[in-house]
Amino acid sequence: TEDMILDRKVMMRNITRVCSTKPTVTVNGKFPGPTIYAREDDTLLIKVVNQVHYNLTVHWHGVKQIRTCWSDGPAYIAQCPIQPGKSYVYNFTVTDQRGTLFWHAHILWLRATVHGAIVILPTLDLPYPFSKPQKEVVIILGEWWKSDVEAVIDEATQSGLPPNISDAHTINGLPGPVSTCLSQERFNFLVEPGKKYLLRIINAALNEELFFKIAGHNLTVVEVDAAYVKPFETETILTAPGQTTNVILSANHKSGKYLMVTSPYMDSPLILVNNKTATATLQYISTNVSSTTFTVPPHRNATSIARKFMDSLRSLNSKKYPAKVPMKIDHSLFFIISLGLNPCASCYKGFRIVAAINNVTFVMPSVSLLNAHFNNRSGAFTDDFPGFPQYAFDYTGIPPENLRTMEGTKLYRLEYNSSVQLILQDTGLLSPENHPMHLHGFNFFVVGRGKGNFNPKVDPKNFNLVDPVERNTINAPSGGWVAIRFRANNPGVWFLHCHLEVHTTWGLKMAFVVDNGNGPNESLLPPPNDLPKC
Ligand code: C2O
Repeated sequence: TEDMILDRKVMMRNITRVCSTKPTVTVNGKFPGPTIYAREDDTLLIKVVNQVHYNLTVHWHGVKQIRTCWSDGPAYIAQCPIQPGKSYVYNFTVTDQRGTLFWHAHILWLRATVHGAIVILPTLDLPYPFSKPQKEVVIILGEWWKSDVEAVIDEATQSGLPPNISDAHTINGLPGPVSTCLSQERFNFLVEPGKKYLLRIINAALNEELFFKIAGHNLTVVEVDAAYVKPFETETILTAPGQTTNVILSANHKSGKYLMVTSPYMDSPLILVNNKTATATLQYISTNVSSTTFTVPPHRNATSIARKFMDSLRSLNSKKYPAKVPMKIDHSLFFIISLGLNPCASCYKGFRIVAAINNVTFVMPSVSLLNAHFNNRSGAFTDDFPGFPQYAFDYTGIPPENLRTMEGTKLYRLEYNSSVQLILQDTGLLSPENHPMHLHGFNFFVVGRGKGNFNPKVDPKNFNLVDPVERNTINAPSGGWVAIRFRANNPGVWFLHCHLEVHTTWGLKMAFVVDNGNGPNESLLPPPNDLPKC
């Protein structure tokens, strides 16, 4: 009901994974944290109590937060952190979206263990556009570090080098038997023959784009990022950090145990090689525990699987939820995404790795930008973020000799209700990963995608403006581009960043400020009384 407050206590708990135990930041003592169930149009009041020694905020990833940017959560963008011993009530309505999203800490690297699912059920008069599943299950894919995650990032920030990679991947918090530790911590999902199940798959990993697959079963994708898609069947799901994917699983065997696996997409020798695979099991109800498990054959060609999956995802189910793609564009923006090297006296070899959008490495402020904007206080940011790169650019060329970026807290201003087209062009310089770009406060339409340099004369002709998929996180493909469109119909300060946490840390982020409209329904609500102070 409307005035029920959910209590979420952020507390330390000793957690054991891959044969070692560490004090871990958890929510209500659980890892992953508790699922939030809501129905579309519900108002949620969530009291976050900070009982740990870190500053903290929580972000409701993918929730549009219409007029409630105060509850969005990114530290120093939409709020000051909740200090140790303090609390804050996040208050927002989930509207105009239904499906799976997730919540996570949005400060430092705390989201490694501070995360959980948000399930938004559709309103009763508009049921699922697919037959009702027998049962629903949340499947959270994550990463686990044996050492303290904040220490890992602190060390990296000071040395200027990439942080340690994680020690294991997890499915619902459990890695399954891995070579470094033989204990059997594995998630098991029981099914009945002939029934259908809805799997709500969330990629909560910090830095890894992941494949997900179940031996002997195809999956039918029906929804991504809390928006329906035209259903399609696939053997393998590909999901980037920040993305959610709902699939229907048909339990079409009679018995048996089948492996569920998640493994990283990146196997390029250019980055630290990472071949850890997490496993779980799908078990038919009549099967005895000791029976052998059907395994999954290894991936052969990661790139072609990825491409096929992305091609299948081009359109959404437009019957009940027609796409409202902006046709006339007010702001045509072109952002290039790159990594660079900036001087740093105390760092290894005198440089530290940075990341940038249009060559601007975002510097985190020490006050809340939303506050500064709302109160018209100057000094916290400038609104001169370049809508276009400052220099000509060719991704196929050799990296420029000067990889230096400019640093600043620059925002881009959008008038309320203006329409935006944004081309996200990756340069492929220094890093071969795709960049899962996440926009707060909006869903956007993914109207086009391609390899190489975006060609403004040719590529827009092939845009899908009829039924493009709607998302909150999309890969700027390595050495390629993606085109998105959205309407800036939500006042506030909205973060846009790479959901690979290491890239966010390096500065791959910026924010839009959407001006208040004129009418009371078009403006940001006033700040809550308990809004934390910096
Ligand atoms: Cu899920 Cu700003 O992030």
